[in-house]
Amino acid sequence: MSRWALIAIAFACAVSGRAWAQDAASGEKIFVVCHGCHQIGANAHIAVGPVLNGVVGREAGTYPGYTYSDANKGSGIVWDEATLQKYLASPQAVVKGTKMLFPGLKDPAKVNDVIAYLKQFDVDGASVQSIQVTQEQE
Ligand code: HEC
Repeated sequence: MSRWALIAIAFACAVSGRAWAQDAASGEKIFVVCHGCHQIGANAHIAVGPVLNGVVGREAGTYPGYTYSDANKGSGIVWDEATLQKYLASPQAVVKGTKMLFPGLKDPAKVNDVIAYLKQFDVDGASVQSIQVTQEQE
């Protein structure tokens, strides 16, 4: 392999690593708008909305002890990334009658970033960031 090819690969890795880091960091700033109603992380408690630890991949309406609307609870949704993309852009469009009174994030890039941030927390609220970084670099 030529020296230039190696440099190109090294550059691509550096760029993709940085792009991922930026996503979650930018998502953390965007999460400020969610934080009025949702907590996340090791010491998170139920607030206006349910705790969002481990929400990516979770079944809708299943955070223990939170009183959901029937609309959310009966939706049958699993919060995978594709569904979250649509929901966070317009909650009422995905779960008609939800009590999440949030108009939605209109910028798909912001939605992506906030999902990257949510993905950092496992069900216990521990940050899984270090594991994801390792996987990114493989
Ligand atoms: C004004 C308060 C409010 C804001 C702001 C808000 N939410 Fe919510 N959210 C809620 C409520 C209340 C629910 C419960 C919905 C229901 O039961 O119908 C909810 C539900 C959710 C759910 C479904 C959780 C589950 O366990 O089924 C997700 C995911 C979610 N919100 C993510 C977000 C994100 C990400 C943001 C910021 C971009 C955000 N929310 C902003 C109040 C809010």
